[in-house]
Amino acid sequence: MAGLDIGSSSIKVVELKRSRGALEAAHCGLEDLPRDLVVDSMIADAGTVSTAIARLFATAGIKTRDLVTAVSGHSVILKKITLPIASDQALPEAIQREATLHIPFDLADVNLDYQVLSEQRERGQLEILLVAVKKDKILNYTQALSLAGKNAAVVDIDSLALLNCYEYNYAPGAEDVVALLNLGASILNINIVKGICPLFPRDVSMGGHQYTEALQRELELSYEEAEALKRGSAADSPHRDARLPILKQVTESIVLEIQKTFDFFRASAEGEPIAKIYLAGGSSRVDGLAEALQEEFSLPVEFLDPFLKISRPSQADAAEVAQHHPEQMAVAVGLALRSFNDL
Ligand SMILES: Nc1ncnc2c1ncn2[C@@H]1O[C@H](COP(=O)(O)OP(=O)(O)OP(=O)(O)O)[C@@H](O)[C@H]1O
Ligand SMILES: [Mg+2]
Repeated sequence: MAGLDIGSSSIKVVELKRSRGALEAAHCGLEDLPRDLVVDSMIADAGTVSTAIARLFATAGIKTRDLVTAVSGHSVILKKITLPIASDQALPEAIQREATLHIPFDLADVNLDYQVLSEQRERGQLEILLVAVKKDKILNYTQALSLAGKNAAVVDIDSLALLNCYEYNYAPGAEDVVALLNLGASILNINIVKGICPLFPRDVSMGGHQYTEALQRELELSYEEAEALKRGSAADSPHRDARLPILKQVTESIVLEIQKTFDFFRASAEGEPIAKIYLAGGSSRVDGLAEALQEEFSLPVEFLDPFLKISRPSQADAAEVAQHHPEQMAVAVGLALRSFNDL
């Protein structure tokens, strides 16, 4: 199965294959999407998005129909709960009952799933991760995929895919507490994890669009001019000096939001010191962001490399994507990893 990450500003695809016991990114691709096709983490224009998906698969040379994709943002609820240890037969019913307390939607309107994270025998408890996604959101994604001739065999969650990517590449120790941050164009996925267990997943509506909008507003630029200036690719722009203070202001509001989440986490029962921050998502590359995080939290900050233990693709276009945009490929790699049950 290929891993397909449909973001609000770009679509990313990865297909992994096993060669001599190791994993290799056989194919990968990235295509920027025009604005307003994916709004509020819903696909607003299924026709255009599905055409882009079909084109992305064709240029990346991916033939498989089956894929793993993910959703995030609002209408997605991730919640850790504890339940008394129950038999395999009784557990689904107990979870349904408990879910009504935690899910702010009618259960008839959501797809509900769960994963038992750990069994604490001495306390007689199970730690469970509850996941609920509005059915209309899943339908919104799967319809766009079937228009592209694809089949969503699995629908995952962005922040969990990022965790899979981290787990495979970094093989963390059971006690390592780190924060995984994925800063896209519209959404910031924050997932504080211990070993390979999510402790505190949270999505915030913030991202790269805010930088672009601030540059547009303050410097009276077009969207395209502001994007180029933000990415540092407008070398001869007269606004080069003005950009940094504007970027800094937006960075401060994003750092503040991360600070709030870290504070909530610290105040929670599971609050433990965070040892490191891993950054992913295209907007993690905004000038000064990594430094601001390092300064604010006095923690090591590292860009998450989805190809640390996975060989990069050999085909030229795919190699270019893996080399120049690794941070944007992290979720897609995490999704593609789900093809293998035995990792
Ligand atoms: N070199 C760069 N410097 C700054 N920003 C960048 C750079 N490259 C990409 N971006 C920004 O990263 C964002 C795209 O990243 P990504 O592909 O992770 O987002 P997405 O998955 O489309 O969005 P979301 O998940 O929030 O819906 C865009 O806002 C883009 O402007
Ligand atoms: Mg994204």
